[in-house]
Amino acid sequence: MTVRKIATIGHPVLRQRSREVGPEELASPEFQRLVDDVIETMRDASGAGLAAPQVHEPARLVAIEVDRNPRYPYKPRVPLTVLVNPELHVLSDETFDNYEGCLSVPNLRGVVRRATEVRVVALDRRGAPLDFVVRGLTAGTFQHEVDHLDGKLFVDSVTDTTTLTTWADFDRFHREAFVRRAEALVARFGS
Ligand code: NI
Repeated sequence: MTVRKIATIGHPVLRQRSREVGPEELASPEFQRLVDDVIETMRDASGAGLAAPQVHEPARLVAIEVDRNPRYPYKPRVPLTVLVNPELHVLSDETFDNYEGCLSVPNLRGVVRRATEVRVVALDRRGAPLDFVVRGLTAGTFQHEVDHLDGKLFVDSVTDTTTLTTWADFDRFHREAFVRRAEALVARFGS
């Protein structure tokens, strides 16, 4: 496993639509190595998730894992999940305001409106079908990662640009109010 270099905003690889992964590519040692590297890179950078284009590989692959994350200590635990060719289906009109950050957008956070309940249809790293529902803050994480596969960064979805903040000023001015809202969501959905 290798920790790969993370592309940052401005790199064109973050702005293209990533390719579908076919059965042959999925079974290849190169692709399995890529999956390992995405996981390793995500863990090394303390990300809650990482999409393949963020390591300069525009394939429809994301990894998500939250376990006492120092970047996002309020996020509930999510076991390691690898999604290939994921599709998200919004299950209700309800939304919440998520304060997001991204390893490809250094030192910036902002509020993005996300659906509270999403169905995830994908393949796992071996090609087995996955179909499950995510809710609350976890649903926000999944939407953020899958957006990367369509060349979308969270900053594109920040409608109120006055919420943009450095990480230090998030802690100073915005953290308390957000964590209160986040805890209410976690209490409701357990996620
Ligand atoms: Ni991101």
